[in-house]
Order: sequence, then structure tokens, then C-alpha cells
Amino acid sequence: MKQNFSKFISFLFYFSLILEVFGDSSVSIIGRFVFDSKENCAIIDWPGVYLQFNVSSTQEIWVEFDDVQKFPQNKRSLEADTTSNIFQIIIQSFNSKINITSELKLIVNEGKTRYQIASNLDPSQTYSVSLYKRTEALSIAKFYRAIIDGGINLYVNPESKSLKNRKLEFIGDSVVAGYGDECKSIDEPFSAETEDVYLAYGPVVSRYFDADYFIEAISGIGVVRNYGDPNKTSARPFGFYMNSSLRSNTSEQYSWDYSKWQPDAMVLHLGGNDYSTLPHPDDDVFIKGYRDLISHYRYFYGDIPMFITTGPMYGDPVKLIQEIISLEQPNVYFVNWTNILTPDLEGCQTQFNVEAHAIMSNILIKSIQQVLGW
Ligand SMILES: *[C@@H]1O[C@H](CO)[C@@H](O)[C@H](O)[C@H]1NC(C)=O
Ligand SMILES: *[C@@H]1O[C@H](CO)[C@@H](O)[C@H](O)[C@H]1NC(C)=O
Ligand SMILES: *[C@@H]1O[C@H](CO)[C@@H](O)[C@H](O)[C@H]1NC(C)=O
Ligand SMILES: *[C@@H]1O[C@H](CO)[C@@H](O)[C@H](O)[C@H]1NC(C)=O
Ligand SMILES: *[C@@H]1O[C@H](CO)[C@@H](O)[C@H](O)[C@H]1NC(C)=O
Ligand SMILES: *[C@@H]1O[C@H](CO)[C@@H](O)[C@H](O)[C@H]1NC(C)=O
Repeated sequence: MKQNFSKFISFLFYFSLILEVFGDSSVSIIGRFVFDSKENCAIIDWPGVYLQFNVSSTQEIWVEFDDVQKFPQNKRSLEADTTSNIFQIIIQSFNSKINITSELKLIVNEGKTRYQIASNLDPSQTYSVSLYKRTEALSIAKFYRAIIDGGINLYVNPESKSLKNRKLEFIGDSVVAGYGDECKSIDEPFSAETEDVYLAYGPVVSRYFDADYFIEAISGIGVVRNYGDPNKTSARPFGFYMNSSLRSNTSEQYSWDYSKWQPDAMVLHLGGNDYSTLPHPDDDVFIKGYRDLISHYRYFYGDIPMFITTGPMYGDPVKLIQEIISLEQPNVYFVNWTNILTPDLEGCQTQFNVEAHAIMSNILIKSIQQVLGW
């Protein structure tokens, strides 16, 4: 009896120690994701989604993922890897301001795999660990857990919410997704390695304001017509995907619950693809399509400021965007980055490189400061 009691006490002691050391010992996910309760994992594919957790009393950190190719039949390029998910990892010690940065490229279709993301950490320190998905929905990442010394598991918090007070949401096309922003020249083929949404303007601006962010962006997507469509309108433009927690599966069971995350402001960046190739959509169809998108978000988010932009590619429908903005007043603002781009700022296939994103960020930062007073 006595022995059992002391066992119980030491169990309690051990348990409270664990609680004390690990605090909220789960993995928070910022961005849309699906929690799979059967497999106890997070299913992630939208660009820029990030995972965050704190660790202490450990030298090593492992993460367990399964990465599944989204469109096995759809190989866009034979020259380059266009299917992998890549994460930017930042491990920051609470006490020193030093960051340990690295990259994690998931192996596609390899099954559940453990990846070591840190070794030689100081067990007396507490670290915050962040994994930022830097690729768009090229494949589906299933995250199961983080594992630290002693075989301690940190599982997904299905109710993850923002850890920061400020929140921004970005919707858009390839520019928002960071398509080709790490290409050295316009001739380089698209690849997962050269798509880095972490360095695209949305996350750059968010970091400047210490804001959490959501990004729903799809390369080639339009308001009513996607890139290269032989018709004036497409069956599956942006609105087809906008409600989904997953880019790869729009079935109703994965509908995103908008009440979970209310941004302070939104940036809408679409229209370039609608007017990129011929035939162009009819202007009134485009305007109506865009206004429908705006009312959709207004319905869920109310009167938050909306920053609307296009380009800065040549031929983008700047005039139409301005017309939409004047029709949608108040609380709608034009972000003007007309004519800011020079040829040395181009990433692959006339997209924008990291430097261009930095220039765009500075302009957007000024607009947000003026409107939100941040
Ligand atoms: C990590 O710890 C810090 C400080 O206690 C806390 O503010 C933050 O929310 C924690 N992060 C996570 C992902 O729990
Ligand atoms: C470390 O990373 C954080 C983002 O997690 C960033 O805000 C901070 O500026 C970085 N610090 C250094 C010294 O690079
Ligand atoms: C174009 O639209 C027509 C009718 O509106 C449809 O029958 C046809 O399948 C469309 N073409 C493509 C390639 O989507
Ligand atoms: C998205 O959600 C809105 C509001 O619930 C709904 O009206 C609309 O039909 C949905 N769109 C799609 C493509 O499911
Ligand atoms: C979407 O998910 C549902 C439920 O898991 C599944 O039945 C369906 O086949 C999926 N659709 C696609 C296109 O993967
Ligand atoms: C946007 O900037 C361009 C180039 O500086 C300028 O010509 C244009 O008038 C501006 N448009 C608006 C609506 O401010």
C-alpha cells in the first residue's frame, strides 16, 4: 500500500515535471489544414502553412511526415522536381537570439518517414521550432508528430489557433505562391526548389508586422478564367477552391470553417491569369466574378480592410481592378506596384524573384501602415 502510494506520488511528480517542462506540448498549425482523427495527423497542402512547437530537455528533434503526390498523372516538367514539399525550418533558442535554419525536403510517395531536423541542441535551453511550407500544393503533406529525446511525442493540436495578435490573409495566383522566385534566370524551368513562398511578399510583410498569416494561392488561377484556357471562362477558377481546407480536395467534408480564423485585413491578388492569354473574359463577367469573391469574404469577415492588387506583370487588368475598387468602397484599397519591375527582377518565366518580392513588400507595408495604423 505504502509502496504503491509512493509510486503514485513519484508518478504525479514525473507527470507534473513533464507538464512543466513542455507546457503546451503540442504542435500548432497556422494555415488551413484537415485534422485526420483516425490517423491522428494533419493533412496540409496550401502554400505557406506553418507548424510551430516548443521543446526543451532535448538534443535532437525528429518529425514524421508522409508525402503523397497530388496529381500523379500531371508531370508539368521532366527536367525538374515539380512535386516535392519543401519546408523552411527555423529553430530559435529562447535565451540567445541565434536561429538555426535549415530546409526539409519531403520524399514523395515514400510512406511515413522520420526526418531528423536538429541535433546537438543544448538540453538546458528551450527552443521554438517552426516549419514553414515553402511550396504550393504540389503534393499533400501528412504530418504525424515531432519526436524528441526520451521518445516523447508532440502531436498535432487540432484546435490550433494564432499565437500572434495580428492576422493577415492572402489569396491569389502564382505571384502570391512565390512561383519561381528563387530562379536565377527566366529560362530556368519551374521546380519545387525555386518556389519559396516564405520569401514571397505575403510572409515577408507578415513578418515585418509580426503577424500570423494564411495563404490560399494557386499558380495559373484566375477570377473567372485560368491561364491558357481555350474558353473565356473556366469551370474551376479560384472560387471553386476558396472554401476548402485543402487545395487538392474540395469535397464538402473538407470545407473550411471561416469562424476559426478572422484576419484583420486581406490581400486579394488575382486577375493576371484571366487576361494573360486569349481569349480574354468579357469585362463585365470579370468584374462580376471579382465582386462576388469580395462579397464572399465580406460575408465571413465583415468590414475588414481589403487590399486589392494585380500584376505587376505587363498587361494585367489594372483599369478593371480600379473600377472594381471604386464600386466596392469603402474599406477597399488599391496597392499600386505598376512599373516597378525591371528585367533583373524576374524569376522563372517572367515571374518575380525574391528581390522583386521585397520591393512589392515595401509598398504593401506602407499601405497597411496607413490603413491599419500598425
Ligand atoms: C512557445 O512558448 C512561448 C513562450 O512561453 C509561447 O508564447 C508560445 O505560444 C509557445 N509556442 C507554441 C507553439 O506553443
Ligand atoms: C530568427 O527567426 C525569427 C523568425 O522565426 C525572426 O523574426 C528573427 O529576426 C530571426 N533572428 C535572427 C537573428 O535572424
Ligand atoms: C468551352 O466551353 C464549351 C461550352 O461553353 C464547352 O463545351 C467546352 O468543353 C469548353 N472547352 C473547354 C476546353 O473547356
Ligand atoms: C463557398 O461558400 C459559400 C458560402 O457558404 C457558398 O455560397 C458557395 O457556394 C461555396 N462555393 C463553393 C464552390 O462550394
Ligand atoms: C476527397 O476526399 C474524399 C474523402 O476522403 C474522397 O472520398 C475523395 O475521393 C477525395 N477526392 C479526391 C479528388 O481526391
Ligand atoms: C500607379 O503608379 C503608376 C506608376 O507610378 C502611376 O502612373 C499610376 O497613376 C498609379 N495609379 C494609381 C491608381 O495610383
